Amino acid sequence: MLEGKTVVLGIAGSIAAYKAADLASKLTQAGVGVEVVMTEAATRFITPLTLSSITGRPVVTGMWQPASEFSIEHVSLAEAADVVVIAPATADIIAKLASGIADDILTCTVLATRAPVIIAPAMNDNMYRNPVTQENLSRLKARGFVIIEPGYGRLASGKTGTGRLAEVDRIIDAIRQVLQRKSDLAGRQIVVTAGGTREPIDPVRYIGNRSSGKMGYALAGVARERGAKVTLVTAASLPSPAEVEVIAVETALQMKRAVTRAVKGADALIMAAAVADYRPEEVARAKIKKSSRLNLELVATPDILAEIEGGFIKVGFAAESEDVIANARKKLEAKGLDLIVANDITQKDSGFGADSNKVTIIDKNGKIEDLPLMTKREVADRVLDRVAGILGKR
Ligand code: C5P
Repeated sequence: MLEGKTVVLGIAGSIAAYKAADLASKLTQAGVGVEVVMTEAATRFITPLTLSSITGRPVVTGMWQPASEFSIEHVSLAEAADVVVIAPATADIIAKLASGIADDILTCTVLATRAPVIIAPAMNDNMYRNPVTQENLSRLKARGFVIIEPGYGRLASGKTGTGRLAEVDRIIDAIRQVLQRKSDLAGRQIVVTAGGTREPIDPVRYIGNRSSGKMGYALAGVARERGAKVTLVTAASLPSPAEVEVIAVETALQMKRAVTRAVKGADALIMAAAVADYRPEEVARAKIKKSSRLNLELVATPDILAEIEGGFIKVGFAAESEDVIANARKKLEAKGLDLIVANDITQKDSGFGADSNKVTIIDKNGKIEDLPLMTKREVADRVLDRVAGILGKR
């Protein structure tokens, strides 16, 4: 994944600059061509000689530096990059990038590149928490920059707080993920549902289920990263994936209304939500008083996936505890689906609440793709591979 790639590593003037040497070393050992670009301030914390000794390449420190293989530095570096990583990124460089200032070789390179940009901030915790820094980071995020949140711990000031440069391995993971991204869903519109609906009994109580929403959020995030315009209709409250339109709902009926609206013009609907099958027929206006017995009259909720039509690809999920494939197939047919993702919820490390999932994807032609245990992001990628495949044939 990393081998043969070119990473432009931007280093800004923070005490954490010395950690960039470790990052450069690990990337170089993984076969990456690391082109280091340092701001003037960064050279006060760590020498260009250290970095060039690690990478075996010249380090760019200024706009007007003559002896280098690059002709017009910022343009050629910007074009050569598969990904640009700024680690550490100071409040100053983040502010400059957010407002398009290009007054040194690093900011010029970022402005000129079309490669994805990863920012790993490191600074004093007050500077990090300052609303202007947060606003700048949000602006960059909204433009598709990947921000690796700093960690909590001892800072250079001696205080403890949030502002430590993220661990080098986390930065490398982010680079890997960004390089893995495909843009095969560009121009596509995908609606994803997530979470377990809550059906109110009274103002305090509800009937719910154990769905965490993680699978749906992974699908929404990955679909966006692969270029799709994504609407996430969710009954869970996890952190929103970047650049995804999030519509929060609570009940099955609300989810149905939101999905019906969202699928207009969509290419695919992926229902990862665990929609309650029943809801209390009447919702008590006041909290029901405790007594020795309570009878609730439940009525079936609408089957959103079965009822919705519109020429888009329909993908369902089937959480099963027995006869997984046979039951999933029945659902695929009954709901008129293109694909169904079946998982055996009795398996360890799989299903509800877990970060991993072991699934089987079945298509309407009966083809069965049995996948090993993998992270929910990886499952999302495999499901989206199939969706992209069907869209490509249309
Ligand atoms: O029938 P079952 O609930 O197992 O089907 C699961 C699939 O159907 C999931 O994709 C789920 O989101 C969807 N579903 C739905 N509306 C319901 C129940 C399930 O869209 N009322």
